[in-house]
Parts: sequence; structure tokens; C-alpha cells
Amino acid sequence: MTRVLSLFTPSGHPTLGNLLGALRPSARLLRTADCVYGISDLHALTGGHDPARLRERSLELAGLAIAAGIDPSRCVLFPQSNVPAHAELSYLLESTAHYGEMQRMIQFKEKSARQDTVRLSLLTYPALMAADILLYQATEVPVGADQAQHVELTRDLAERFNRLYGPVFTPPRAVHPPAAARVMDLADPTSKMSKSVDSPGTILLLDPVDAVRRKIMRAVTDSGSSVSYDPEGKPGVSNLLAILSACTDVPVAELSYDSYGTLKKDTADAVIALLEPLQRRYASLAADPASLQAVLRAGAERARALADPTLAAAKRAMGLLAA
Ligand code: TYM
Repeated sequence: MTRVLSLFTPSGHPTLGNLLGALRPSARLLRTADCVYGISDLHALTGGHDPARLRERSLELAGLAIAAGIDPSRCVLFPQSNVPAHAELSYLLESTAHYGEMQRMIQFKEKSARQDTVRLSLLTYPALMAADILLYQATEVPVGADQAQHVELTRDLAERFNRLYGPVFTPPRAVHPPAAARVMDLADPTSKMSKSVDSPGTILLLDPVDAVRRKIMRAVTDSGSSVSYDPEGKPGVSNLLAILSACTDVPVAELSYDSYGTLKKDTADAVIALLEPLQRRYASLAADPASLQAVLRAGAERARALADPTLAAAKRAMGLLAA
């Protein structure tokens, strides 16, 4: 059976990009695959962070993941930091990875350019992400397009490890949703919608619905008035078409509009139709944080049972003494 894995980082409030690019596609895979999903709280330590806020955001993200359909009774849902094998395998993989290939990662280049001091973990983060994936022998990794390079690096590291030390890991591949692999900022449709950028063009999953409608109605569109899908020439309109397509499951090619106004109105309606029930489900989960924590603890126990044998095999293959 296909083993699917994906993690989500609690480094800010989750956005519509996270929902359409990863959370919703991940939830849909529950029907056909054996799925492991996690809250990558260790990854949230790669930039300056506030401990109390990290705890809050980890629980918020877990609640939103469940509200988006990642049902913990049908998959393993766990906090990364509760499974020590992640940090341990990350070090082993760092010992097979090259400084140059880490420096070449686009996310490292972009994020390090915005900071005065760069945490070392920002550079080594792709080795931890590779550990996340390889520990569970995942074959498919549902992610947005921004994570494709990290999954490719994971493949490279898995193949290199297997060549050097013997066949321990399954090389994975990234899978992207058809329409919304890269949801763009509504106010600046040449930049990715991001939870770490404060922009009037970011839709947060917990935004009140009137704010969601306002942000979409004010979305930057392009010169001219024809509605056509052309991400290079018409990034604003193309972004709205992609969002509408992802929310309604109608392929972009079948969406036909003759005015920006109606496209915006239909997009706002479709996004709100998705967010309203999600926010209701989230509110009832958030009202009982103790139960949410218990669900995550149980998930961590199952994750440890899956991850530990892979870690042990990797250590053996590398010549480390058995405990
Ligand atoms: P993160 O937390 O930044 O994003 C979570 C998921 O949301 C996707 N995403 C988007 N998709 C479409 N449009 C957007 N604007 C958009 N913004 C974010 C991301 O591609 C991601 O799938 N390093 C990862 C988390 C991670 C991980 C892993 C993922 C850690 N270990 C192992 C897969 C496998 C990250 O920070 O995602």
C-alpha cells in the first residue's frame, strides 16, 4: 500500500495556501492510502520563536488539520518533537549531505537573505525534513510546490545512503494538487501566500468570513479585462481561478468568466463555503485542548513504533554499535 507522509510547521497562523496546497489534499488521501501526518514543531525553531506562542500554534495547527479532514482515527497524527528518532536520523543524514547542496536550497537562500543572524538549523533543516519522510518509508509526499526541492533532496539523500551503506530507505516523490500547488498572495500575486509574511493579501484559515470576502474582493487583478488562465501574464486573475478551481473541484479549463467582479464574488463564496464549516469544527476541537493533546500523545506513540525500526536499521548500516 502507498505510504503517504506530510508535516505542517507551526511557525505562524495557517493560510488558505496551506489548506489548498497541502492540508486538504492530505485529508483526501486518507481514503486510499496509509497516511502519517505531523506537526513539525522542530522546524519552527529555525527562526526566532516565542516558546509560549509555539505551543499555542502547534495545538492550533493540529486542530485545524483535524478540522480540514485529517481524521486522527484514520491516520497517525503526531507532534514531531515527541518522536526522538527524527532528530537522531537528521544527524545521520547530515553526515551524508553536503554543505553545498544545503546552501543551494531556495528556501534557505530566501529566508537567510531576510535575516541578520541565521540559525544553523535553517541551513540543516532539509536533513531534518528528509528524516521526517524517510523514517516512515513514505512513497508519496503531498506538498505545495515550494517544498518540491526539499523532497527531491530527500530522494537524493535516500539514494546516496542506500548506495553507501545498503538499502535502508525508500526514495519518495512529491505529489502536488492539480490547481493550487502555489497559492499566491492576493495583494501581490507574484509572491507566494505565506504564514510568515504579514500581508493584506494573506487569507488565514481563522479569519472572520467578512474579512475573507473583503480580501478577495480587493485582490489585485491585472490590466485588461479578459479572464484567462495565464500565470505569467495575468498572475492575479490566474491565482483567483486556481483558488476557485481548488475549492470547487472544477478544473481551471472549465471555468469561464467575462468579468473580474463575478470571478471575485464566486471565488469569495467558494472559499467561505470551505472555511465556514472548517471554522465550526475547529471551534469545537479548540474548546477541549486536553482531548486534542491526548490525541497527539497517542499519535506520537504510534509514530515512534513506526519510526524506531528504520532508525535502528540506519544506525546498523552506518556501523554504529547496537545499543
Ligand atoms: P509549511 O508549514 O510551510 O507548509 C505546510 C504545507 O503547505 C504548503 N504550502 C502551500 N501550498 C500552496 N500554496 C501556498 N502558498 C503554500 N504555502 C504553504 C507547503 O508546501 C506544505 O506542504 N517544511 C515543511 C513542513 C515539513 C514537511 C516535512 C512536509 C516538515 N517535514 C516532511 C512534507 C514532508 C513546511 O515548512 O511546510
